Amino acid sequence: MYGFIHVIFLMHSAPSASSLNTLGHPPREVLRHIPSDITSAADYECHAIHHVEAGAWKHIQGGTNQNLTLAHNRATFDRLRLLPKPIADVRHAHTSLQLLGHPLSNPILLAPVAYQRLVHPEGELATMRAAMALQTGMVVSTLSSHTLEDIAQAGQAAAAEMGHGAPRWFQLYLQPERAHSLQLLRRAEAAGYTAIVWTVDASIKRSGFPLPYGVDAANLRGMPATQHTSPLQGPILFGTPLMQQTPTWDDLQWLRAHTQLPLIVKGVLSPAIARQAVALGANALVVSNHGGRVLDGVVSPLEVLPAIAQAVGPTIPLLLDSGVRYGTDVVKALALGASAVLIGRPQMHALATAGLLGVAHMLHLLRAEFELAMAHLGCATVTDITPDVLWQRPQA
Ligand code: FNR
Repeated sequence: MYGFIHVIFLMHSAPSASSLNTLGHPPREVLRHIPSDITSAADYECHAIHHVEAGAWKHIQGGTNQNLTLAHNRATFDRLRLLPKPIADVRHAHTSLQLLGHPLSNPILLAPVAYQRLVHPEGELATMRAAMALQTGMVVSTLSSHTLEDIAQAGQAAAAEMGHGAPRWFQLYLQPERAHSLQLLRRAEAAGYTAIVWTVDASIKRSGFPLPYGVDAANLRGMPATQHTSPLQGPILFGTPLMQQTPTWDDLQWLRAHTQLPLIVKGVLSPAIARQAVALGANALVVSNHGGRVLDGVVSPLEVLPAIAQAVGPTIPLLLDSGVRYGTDVVKALALGASAVLIGRPQMHALATAGLLGVAHMLHLLRAEFELAMAHLGCATVTDITPDVLWQRPQA
């Protein structure tokens, strides 16, 4: 039987004393120190597997079908070669930039990742505090497991305490009723989020993950949710209410008309869609295949980035995610036209392993690798990261 389900996961399993990790052991406690073998953000994955219950791990890691998209995302980063420029004046180098009118200390942000309490009781609150400590922008999911208000409050308090902060954006999944989408928009505005990220590529996807007891979509409490599990006979997906929820251009116009905040469309992979989104009022785009979680065999964001950059022109910022794991990946994305990147799964890996400390450390590692790469490539600012930092294979 196929279980199609809207992005809102509804089922709750009963509390279970016997949840084990993927390796068949009770999940390990969150660490209070950073293991010495973690030297890059990607290293958190092999630690996190010990800390996360098996079902949640499968949900976090999952791609689709053969995981072709997932593998392809990494392969396109790995295929590109960098060309160092060891003689250059990088003594006053820095990584700061302006994005949508806001200063950012570096072009690495945290992608919206739902249900962070699956891996840590403080969930998004801990992630947000770590993000502010590391001056990293964070996009909070509609499906966060703490309320968007509580997460914003944690961000504001952390930023005030440290004397510096970073952008806090809200990711919107449109709800079956526009009145509820509007409620979410207004709540996000009132809580101080400074941009809306509308995700368009995952309104329907296969899932069968029952949320454990105590984890829910905190922002959607009291709102009706949709679920569809198709029996062997009868409509599977077409002809069911789920098809009413796939995004339309009318939705984009509606959103544009209902918020003054910058609107960023997430999940764009085609130049034609990018052009149309901008024509209808999108201020920026996230070039993304949702980390390979939605459809298998999809093109990687890095492959289509140059064509999208050309389609929308230099005034529309492009963010990129799906497979970014190393500082050199950030350089490659910027070289091909991105203004910034988003990090997905590694935030869950780091949060599961060592909580706030882990997320902060993971971000520190990424930033350190990024600065090191810029220095070796002779780039004093992010605008120096052009296609020239990539080695071009000589034409045969
Ligand atoms: C996601 N992603 C996601 N995207 C979104 O717009 N809203 C959401 O609620 C979620 N939730 C979510 C949960 C989990 C467990 C994962 C792994 C991902 C997608 C996310 O924002 C991003 O596009 C990808 O994770 C990027 O790929 P990497 O970095 O995980 O390879």
